[in-house]
Amino acid sequence: MTHLDAIEQYRSLFLSYMEATQSQKEPRNLYEPMDYILGLGGKRMRPVLTLMSTELFGGNPKEALDAAMAIEVFHNFSLVHDDIMDDAPLRRGQMTVHEKWDVNTGILSGDAMLIKAYQCLESYPQAIFKQLMVLFSQTAMEVCEGQQYDVDFETRDDVTIPEYLKMIEYKTAVLVAAAMKMGAIVAGAPEKDAEAIYQFGRNLGLAFQLQDDYLDAFGDPKTFGKQVGGDIMENKKTFLYLKALEFADQEEREGLMHLFSIKPSETKTKVETVKNIFLESGAVDAAKKEIQHYTEKAFDTLSGINIQEANKKVLRQFGEYLMKRRV
Ligand code: IPE
Ligand code: IPE
Ligand code: MG
Ligand code: MG
Ligand code: MG
Repeated sequence: MTHLDAIEQYRSLFLSYMEATQSQKEPRNLYEPMDYILGLGGKRMRPVLTLMSTELFGGNPKEALDAAMAIEVFHNFSLVHDDIMDDAPLRRGQMTVHEKWDVNTGILSGDAMLIKAYQCLESYPQAIFKQLMVLFSQTAMEVCEGQQYDVDFETRDDVTIPEYLKMIEYKTAVLVAAAMKMGAIVAGAPEKDAEAIYQFGRNLGLAFQLQDDYLDAFGDPKTFGKQVGGDIMENKKTFLYLKALEFADQEEREGLMHLFSIKPSETKTKVETVKNIFLESGAVDAAKKEIQHYTEKAFDTLSGINIQEANKKVLRQFGEYLMKRRV
């Protein structure tokens, strides 16, 4: 069996569990958007990581299904609210919840998903439940902090790379990290190992968000599933933007800063112009190096973890698969 088959097996284990737990509850306008967004697919990377992590530490992945579900439902909640905040029309190739219904529906269905995520953890025995809850709540609060920084940065013109890295750590990386640590907690892994797998997930999550920023500008609209150029339209201070500013001469810098102080409706060519600057300034190359850097950093943390070499290989393969992704 190849390692990618293993990933597929975790994914299908998770999907059959998810399908079995869907309900036809009322009111439909609350529950239908929840089923809609969860049913749109996506990579299911976080729940796969939770199940994988449990098995790595000698547990039964089936026992991690509720923790994996909590993570995936939380992730989908954050996407529904994120799409409102980012004014995004497309998600996984389909209409976003606030486009298909309206903003109020997105807010309340999102809230309900956050509650559902917590309910998923109720099935665990008290000692495990407590540990999962503490980690989950801390992570959820950090995601909110990251999201607020992301929005605050839209209207700031002095964002630094360390600030950007902290922002993506909070909005994205900590959830990937927690997905893995929750798997370790379910398996009863020693705290040292649970913490090491958290660091693996954190670094992988940083690489993942850097890649997401790259794909947001340069992904193929046919396969990416989100509106390509959305971050540029919203004046998001991504790694590409910050590096382009750093590499540009005075005149280019002023041009780029001007483009990131207006809304795209004010210029038809904003996205294309900015993408060219990202490419020609060397910012794209710098982003690719940074993605590689954090992926390798994740792999380095594996040397300190007490699991079999074959299992480390599965984790490395997962990291490489993520780096090559186009969706
Ligand atoms: C999207 O996450 C939000 C980010 C943190 C970039 P994914 O890229 O994992 O989204 P799905 O679940 O596969 O659609
Ligand atoms: C998403 O960041 C982070 C969270 C949803 C918490 P993005 O705004 O970059 O995610 P996408 O690109 O919309 O998926
Ligand atoms: Mg978004
Ligand atoms: Mg966002
Ligand atoms: Mg994005």
